[in-house]
Amino acid sequence: MAGELPDSAKLVFGDRTELAREFADMLREHGVERGLIGPREIDRIWERHVLNSAVIAELLPRECRCVDVGSGAGLPGIPLAIARPDITLTLLEPMARRVAWLEEVVDRLQLDSVTVVRGRAEEGPVRERLKNSDVVTARAVAPLEKLARWCLPLVKPGGQLVALKGESAQEELERDAQAVRKAGGTAGRVAVCGADVLDQPTTVILIDRQTRQTRRDR
Ligand SMILES: C[S@@+](CC[C@H](N)C(=O)[O-])C[C@H]1O[C@@H](n2cnc3c(N)ncnc32)[C@H](O)[C@@H]1O
Repeated sequence: MAGELPDSAKLVFGDRTELAREFADMLREHGVERGLIGPREIDRIWERHVLNSAVIAELLPRECRCVDVGSGAGLPGIPLAIARPDITLTLLEPMARRVAWLEEVVDRLQLDSVTVVRGRAEEGPVRERLKNSDVVTARAVAPLEKLARWCLPLVKPGGQLVALKGESAQEELERDAQAVRKAGGTAGRVAVCGADVLDQPTTVILIDRQTRQTRRDR
């Protein structure tokens, strides 16, 4: 069992809370042995992983097409898919054993809106298949400069990269501003999600993919 269900889980997942509990249980039972999370994470699966991931749902437009790059254990993708079944979600992951895990989770929770794809974001066939997505998410995958180069080509003009980051988000955004613009992103901004439900809200960097108009205005 993944510890006691926090009150905030019901606020975030509503009538799909049981699915979130099942995912948390799977992570707790198999996450360490399968190399998906560290042993110290077991006691903080809900707040630090499941809920922290799911609260980005408040940023995503209805019925959008979203790719979670480097999904690994399924974060933020699986909690997002549970919280927002209207979103068509692709979990992108290069490592075979993590892909197997993601497929097991999707199967077990019967998440019909989710597809698992094996590959790296920067690969040609992956770009071709996943281009023009409305939103790309990524958590703990790479520094912003690299993320922008890998992920922005998958985002449609005017769509958004949502990078889950820690407290140094603003610093990272300023440090990598030039690389982000070169990769086709706008200036970007830092936002906080889940402030009303979590003790430690989730910090994200939001970068829009440039459109013809925003490129002209630069
Ligand atoms: C540190 S893990 C984080 C996993 C998950 N997002 C999380 O927050 O727990 C980074 C993941 O990114 C994947 N990854 C690394 N480079 C990638 C790339 N170029 N494209 C897609 N995924 C990548 C790795 O295989 C790994 O599963």
